[in-house]
Amino acid sequence: MDTKDEQLVAGIRQLCKKKNAIILAHYYQEGDIQDIADYVGDSLALAQWAAKTTADIIVLCGVHFMGETAKILCPDKKVLIPDLNAGCSLADSCPADEFTAFVNEHPDHIVISYVNTTASVKAVTDIVVTSTNARQIVESFPKDTKIIFGPDRNLGNYINSITGRDMLLWNGACHVHEQFSLEKIIALKKQYPDAAVITHPECKQPIIQISDFVGSTAALLKYTISSDKKQFIVATESGVIHEMQKHSLDKEFIPAPPNDSTCACNECSFMRLNTLEKLYNCLKYETPEIVVDEGIRQKAVIPIEKMLKISAELGL
Ligand code: 13P
Ligand code: SF4
Repeated sequence: MDTKDEQLVAGIRQLCKKKNAIILAHYYQEGDIQDIADYVGDSLALAQWAAKTTADIIVLCGVHFMGETAKILCPDKKVLIPDLNAGCSLADSCPADEFTAFVNEHPDHIVISYVNTTASVKAVTDIVVTSTNARQIVESFPKDTKIIFGPDRNLGNYINSITGRDMLLWNGACHVHEQFSLEKIIALKKQYPDAAVITHPECKQPIIQISDFVGSTAALLKYTISSDKKQFIVATESGVIHEMQKHSLDKEFIPAPPNDSTCACNECSFMRLNTLEKLYNCLKYETPEIVVDEGIRQKAVIPIEKMLKISAELGL
């Protein structure tokens, strides 16, 4: 870390103390942001921490929908995000007006939405899920329940395949997780025959099928810690490798490569918009701030709180 970054880190720590602020960071953030955060976690953990913090300011180092979820849960707190342009291609693949029309066409279906959605989509949702709890929440409904699942078709297909359900899927996807190359992963498996392929369920089905383990970012991390394997081919955003490596210094993590790039890793361009400098400035000037319309918030908080309640009951 150079002197400028050291000064930024010191400044961020001072501002957090002075303003009673906490920093919540997703595993897909740059390593320097993960290292300075009060908590680093997956989408579920970020929502859980936001729901229980006593801080006056939450800085969400992640993407916009994560900040919105924190704001929906904590309307009286100031929720900041270092870069307001940190969006999400998956959330963007589900415009609220089109999704609402789809929901209205199927009045006999309940609506389960992935947390990677806008507040307006959550407002027409019965229960929110993350990749950590999606299976259990879907299975908490009787087998003959008619379900709309959105917006991720890959996660929806995966949950259908492991639960035997036939949920009606919204046709959305994440541009990062859809990018992984099956051919290149198979080639890596030949190069590292003892490595386990570990995959996020937002990836396409052929990649899921050749994987040794499929799970949310938190589940993948846990797997690498407890597994006897020494090498892992990681098919999710490569930022999570920072935390994996910290927990397992003796293990090797190989980022799964995307289809058409000369780069060996796969990064979410939205997540990587956040930088130490932007984090410092957002704490100093208390902007950009996440704002959610109060009418939408009051509807969106219901399915998020249902998810948190079920997750707590399940010990997740
Ligand atoms: P999780 O953090 O729930 O694993 O989700 C991954 C993701 O794509 C976040 O944007
Ligand atoms: Fe959205 Fe995909 Fe980036 Fe996650 S990795 S924030 S799902 S675009």
